[in-house]
Amino acid sequence: MNTLDIQPFSKYCAAEVLPVGSKSITNRALMLAAVHGKPCRLSGALFSRDTEIMMDCLGKLGLKISANPAQRTIFVEDAAIKNKKASLFVGNAGTAARFITALAAAVDGGEYSFDSDAAMYERPMEGLIKALEEQGAQFYYKGKPYHFPFLMRTHGLKGGAVRVDASSSSQILSAVIMAGVLAKKPLEITSGETVSKPFVEMTRRMASQFPCAEYDIEPDATAASYFAALPIVTGGACIIKNFAKVRLQGDARFVSVIEEAGLVKTQIVGDDLLVMGVPEFDNSDMEVDFNDISDTFLTLASVAAYLPRRIKIKGIKHTRGQETDRVSAMAKELKKLAAGVIEEDDSLQITSHPALYKCKTRRQILEAMAENIGGRVLISTYQDHRIAMSFSVLGCADIGRGSWMEIENPQCVAKTWREFFTVLEAARGNSQKFRVVAIDGGAAVGKSSVSKAAAATLGYMHVDTGAHYRNIAYVLLEQGLRPDEPESVASALKNMKLSTTLEGNSAKILCQGRVLGDDDIRCERINANVSLFAAIPAVREFLKDYQRSMADFAKSGGFGGVIMEGRDIGSVIFPDACARIFLDADEQTRQARRAKEGITDSIKKRDALDKARKVAPLVCPEGASLIDTSNMGKDEVIAKAICIIVNS
Ligand code: DC
Repeated sequence: MNTLDIQPFSKYCAAEVLPVGSKSITNRALMLAAVHGKPCRLSGALFSRDTEIMMDCLGKLGLKISANPAQRTIFVEDAAIKNKKASLFVGNAGTAARFITALAAAVDGGEYSFDSDAAMYERPMEGLIKALEEQGAQFYYKGKPYHFPFLMRTHGLKGGAVRVDASSSSQILSAVIMAGVLAKKPLEITSGETVSKPFVEMTRRMASQFPCAEYDIEPDATAASYFAALPIVTGGACIIKNFAKVRLQGDARFVSVIEEAGLVKTQIVGDDLLVMGVPEFDNSDMEVDFNDISDTFLTLASVAAYLPRRIKIKGIKHTRGQETDRVSAMAKELKKLAAGVIEEDDSLQITSHPALYKCKTRRQILEAMAENIGGRVLISTYQDHRIAMSFSVLGCADIGRGSWMEIENPQCVAKTWREFFTVLEAARGNSQKFRVVAIDGGAAVGKSSVSKAAAATLGYMHVDTGAHYRNIAYVLLEQGLRPDEPESVASALKNMKLSTTLEGNSAKILCQGRVLGDDDIRCERINANVSLFAAIPAVREFLKDYQRSMADFAKSGGFGGVIMEGRDIGSVIFPDACARIFLDADEQTRQARRAKEGITDSIKKRDALDKARKVAPLVCPEGASLIDTSNMGKDEVIAKAICIIVNS
């Protein structure tokens, strides 16, 4: 059997992904170029089986289309339908099946023979065929009535009133709306209830944007759902490129659904979306209607086998008539993951294995999975790209025994995302890279909170090097030494032993084996002296090797990387760090932030000393990424820093 082993993410996710162009938009844009008969250049287009089928059918109808997959562009050079006779093959592409049938029906005096993949023989066409019959087309079935394959004789669309039953697929209504441009008189469409309404809205909005010479296609929001869900199981952060540009696709709401459910946190950074894992999951019951965003229900359903809560997904009956009966296929596969599944006509209720149900953190869940999911799991995919992509996200969970999930017939993803598994593998590779990160800046610019939050999100070790200087200042003062006696300080350091302990993911320094508390090192006396001690060359020299050793310490501790905050990390300690970030803020903002923390030391004075000292002065090193945080919220700064790190 043809299967693919999914390789788990042994480190937290740290990846950036550019989703393919939207399938729904690419095929609508092609259809709209054809109905208007005007040349059009599409950028950001999707190249996959479904859009290639669409282009191929249009080619058979006489359109001239040149495509450049590497550049993601399609040029409809000549959009006129010239062929009144053609054999059209729609594969299992719902959009092509409905759009091309409606488009060909608008030709006067045509004879078209249609065939498809066997799976398409079962998918709903009746609502469309009946509407086209009302408009003048005649159908001759080669198999079941109102289904593929068939021969269609056409007389153009006469226009006027037409009833469209799109209760089984919104594509039926979309097809009639778009082909309606070619009707002899304007169409007056009446339709009852439809499913997946946002797709009809997408059609209406796109119809109003055509004809046009250039059209830019958004990234595919459904494809993005897999990478939005990835940090739920891997932890860490995934950047979804250009996601903020999504305007037309209802499926973008999937991200809000998982964020509102507390499964991820998100932040827009420029044109991109940063999706971050959370430290703990809540275990309250969850019920969501996925009717509007049903292509993404599979993404949540597969991850549900991992989540410590009962999840009911409703409004998905119509997906039983899609690539496969998705409701029953998902139920069957979820049971292989020891999940409790209740399948109803219109819904799925999923409860993970009872042992997972009690967990709160990712680590606990992964341990419970290791104990309760026996052997390897082989996921059957029913020729359904979404089943393959959804489950492979779950397969990225690292349950401590290497690859544990196999996906049958992985090539089925080519329907909408041929390179999906390569992109997933690249994301894993990027996450595997051990990164040393320097976050420098003056006092009260938010170094500490940004460093801690970024380290917690990415599963990196955190080191506050300011605390190193504070600890040393404390011990030296205790020994009766003063910063204006550099020689005595230097000789005292000869007998000072440093060691390290971990508190959570923060490395803490021990001088002479002692752990000092925050009260000890963050008081007036230390504030007044630390910068003076830190300006002594012998003190800096003494700490250099120790601070550099933190990278190996983090590596041997199994961390994915280390984030060190300080004043000279990117300039002196790790000038070749993967990412060097320098935070700054205007003085007013910093003073206000300091006051909020109840600290009254003079930042100005300390900064002046740090900047003026001869050795390792506080500077934004050349090539570092400067973030001016004055007008940014804390979450924004953290997100920006994470994006810089992930991309380093
Ligand atoms: O970040 P902080 O305020 O805890 O730092 C205390 C002092 O330590 C600061 O005034 C200068 C010094 N320091 C340094 O010189 N180099 C570092 N990498 C970190 C701190």
